[in-house]
Amino acid sequence: MYLPIMITVKEEKKVKRIKIKVNFNNMMKAKLGAKGISEEDISKIREKIKQAVKNLKQKRDDGKLGFMYLPYDVKTKEEIKKVAELVKEKFENLVVLGIGGSALGTIALHRALKHPFHNLLPAEKRKAPRLFVMDNVDPEVAANLFDVIDLKKTLVNVITKSGETAETVAFMKIIWDKLIKQVGKNKLKDHVVITTDREKGTLRQIVNEYGFISFEVPSNVGGRFSVLSSVGLFPLACSGINIDELLKGAAFMDSITTNDNIWKNPAYMRAILHYIADKKFGQKITVMLPYSNALKDVADWFAQLWAESLGKKMSNDGKIINVGLTPVKALGATDQHSQVQLYMEGPYDKVVNFIRVEKFRTDEVMPDNFKDKESFSYLSGYSMADLINIEQKATEIALTQNKRSNMTIILPEISEFTIGQLIYMLEVETAFIGELYNINAFDQPGVEAGKIATYAMMGRKGYADKIKNIKSKDISKYII
Ligand code: PA5
Repeated sequence: MYLPIMITVKEEKKVKRIKIKVNFNNMMKAKLGAKGISEEDISKIREKIKQAVKNLKQKRDDGKLGFMYLPYDVKTKEEIKKVAELVKEKFENLVVLGIGGSALGTIALHRALKHPFHNLLPAEKRKAPRLFVMDNVDPEVAANLFDVIDLKKTLVNVITKSGETAETVAFMKIIWDKLIKQVGKNKLKDHVVITTDREKGTLRQIVNEYGFISFEVPSNVGGRFSVLSSVGLFPLACSGINIDELLKGAAFMDSITTNDNIWKNPAYMRAILHYIADKKFGQKITVMLPYSNALKDVADWFAQLWAESLGKKMSNDGKIINVGLTPVKALGATDQHSQVQLYMEGPYDKVVNFIRVEKFRTDEVMPDNFKDKESFSYLSGYSMADLINIEQKATEIALTQNKRSNMTIILPEISEFTIGQLIYMLEVETAFIGELYNINAFDQPGVEAGKIATYAMMGRKGYADKIKNIKSKDISKYII
C-alpha cells in the first residue's frame, strides 16, 4: 500500500531551509572557457533528453522503477518501526550479513547519521545496539567478530535479495551453528531477522521452515537502489535513525526530480552534465569528494550505484558499446594531501563532485594559544567547521582556475531529511544517465558472471560445466 507522504504547511518552511542544492557553475563554459559545457551543448542533445525523460516516466508508470515508490511505502515502514523498537530495547549488538547493495547503503547512512564512534559509546549514551556489517568473507574479520560480541545479546539480520549470495550464505552458515550453541535451537527465532525476496530463493524457504521474522525486498527494486527499502530501513531503524524523516526527505526530492524542466531538476541536470563531460571531453572518471567524515561512505555507496548501473557492454538496442563512468571515492580534507594533486594537474579526464556541509552538528573552536608562533596562531578563533569548509572552497577555486570540471552538492546540514534527499537524487540521476547512454542501468550481468564462476569453482551442483571453461583458460606461463 503506497500512501503519499504529506508535508504540512508548518513543515514547509523547514523544508525550504534544508533543501539540498547543486552548484554546477564550475562545469560551464562561463567558468571553464573551452573546457566547459555551454548551454548550446545541452540544447544540442535536447531530443535525447526528451526521450530520456519520457522513458523514465514510462518505466515508473509501468512499475519498473520500484525505488521511486519506496518513499511512500508506509505499511513496510510501520512494520519495521515496530520490530526495531523491540530490537533497540533487547539487544546489545546488531550484526548485518549482506554484501553489495544489501550492505553499502546501511553502512553509509549509519555513518552519516550516527555518532562517529557509535560502537564505542557506553550503552546509556548509545541507546541502540552496536552495529557490525559483515559484508566481506575476510577470514580474519569473520573469526575475530566473535571476540567482541556476545551472541546471546545479538540480533542477526541476514539480507540477500536473491537469497543465495555465496558471501552472505557463508557467514550465515558460520554464525548459525555458533548461535545454536549459545542460545539453543528453540531461541534461534528470537535472534534472527531475514530480509529477502517475497517468494524466490533458498533464504525464503528457510524463513518459511523456521518461522523467522522477515521483511521483503520488492522484486522491482535492485540491490543498489534498495537502501530505502527494508534492506536499509530495518537496520537503520534499529540503530535509532528516524526513518520517517529519511523517507520524507526522499519524497521531497521526488517532488523536485519529477520536474521535466532540466534547469529545475538537479538529478537530471547532474546526469546531463556528466554525460556531456564524457562525450565532449572524454571525462570518464567521476570523483565523489565529500568534505565530511560522516559522508565518507556515501561516496562508497555511490561508487557501487554508479559502477554497477553504468558499466555496460550492450546498449538497449543490442549493440556492443562498452560504456561506463569510473567512480572514485575520496575524502576532504584528507585527500588534499593525497589525490588532489592528480585532480589539479593530471589528465583532464575527471569530474570532481564536492559534497559540502553548511552546518555541522557539533564543532570545536581552536583556542588562542601559541600566540608567539604565527604559523599556529593564525588558526585561533576559527572552528574545525570553518577550516574544513574553507579548505573545500579553496580546492574548488583552485580546480576551477585550472579549468577542471567540478560541481558541488550543498547540504545545509546532515540530518535524516537531507540524507534522504541526497540518496534519492543520486539514484534518480543514475537512472536518468542510464537512459542517456541507452543502457539498462538496472541489471548487472557482469556481477552475475562472477557469482556463477564462484559457484562453479566451489563445486555447486548444476555449475560443473562452467568450471571446465575456467580451468582450460588458466595458464601459469606469466607468473614471476
Ligand atoms: O546491486 C546489486 O544488485 C548487487 O550489488 C547486489 O546487491 C549484491 O550482489 C548482493 O545480492 P543479494 O542481495 O542478492 O545477496
